[in-house]
Amino acid sequence: MIEPRGDAVRAASRSLLTLRDLAVAPLGAAKPVLRDIALDVGAGECLALVGASGTGKTTLLRTLGGQIAAVAGTIELDGEWLTALRGKALRRLRSRVGFVAQKHDLVEPLRVHQNVMAGALGRWSTLRALRYLCRPTSAELAEARSALEAVGLAHKLRAPTAALSGGEQQRVAIARALVQAPRLLLADEPVASLDPVTARAILELLTSLAKRRGMALICSLHQPELATRYFDRVLEVREGTLTGSAAVHAAQPLRLTA
Ligand SMILES: Nc1ncnc2c1ncn2[C@@H]1O[C@H](COP(=O)(O)OP(=O)(O)OP(=O)(O)O)[C@@H](O)[C@H]1O
Ligand SMILES: [Mg+2]
Repeated sequence: MIEPRGDAVRAASRSLLTLRDLAVAPLGAAKPVLRDIALDVGAGECLALVGASGTGKTTLLRTLGGQIAAVAGTIELDGEWLTALRGKALRRLRSRVGFVAQKHDLVEPLRVHQNVMAGALGRWSTLRALRYLCRPTSAELAEARSALEAVGLAHKLRAPTAALSGGEQQRVAIARALVQAPRLLLADEPVASLDPVTARAILELLTSLAKRRGMALICSLHQPELATRYFDRVLEVREGTLTGSAAVHAAQPLRLTA
């Protein structure tokens, strides 16, 4: 593992998430899928990852989510070196990272609030989680309701999850991530299977929540026009490296500069 350099440490003190010299080779990949990744993301900053299929966007998000280990380099989150942690300390740091997948991974036979409170599993014992399923306390239900309020779905608290539309289910997945109170929220193509109106609503929601709660948001997208419209910065993953970066503004076309 490469030790952080002096300039990396200084940059890290200003950002919530800092990546340096990161290389990732998922099990089964013949060579690193990602290499030489350097990135700083601040609290409340919204970053879009664009790039052709198979370039490594999901691999980068899964690495940040702790599902794939880096083979070189460092990841610092909230002042702690994630790449140096093991066991309980690593689990604690990972619980500060929320993940919203392209195809939501909700448990359809459960009620909406039960899926939402799955976001608390990182801090609940197994016994408490099982008890919640049959007999939630009013304080626990209030927490679920508050997360659902943030995504405009408080009225669906007790609804069967399977009865919700695709866009509503995506919002439940976001509410579940909010219950984690993450510092970093990752979203892998969260609008890929949604109609354009719902897609815009979900991106508006994710980016405004990130700003309001001071979370860093990193989201992969295949639609450059949505990336430029909703995100502070757009980066392109190309041939396994982050090749471009640009501050973007709503009215400007996608601009990527090396
Ligand atoms: N476990 C693995 N074993 C072997 N190769 C892998 C593994 N995981 C990812 N890869 C390879 O890494 C490359 C990047 O995959 P990744 O899923 O990150 O791409 P992506 O940019 O998210 O693509 P898409 O836009 O299609 O979702 C691909 O060539 C993929 O085949
Ligand atoms: Mg992908």
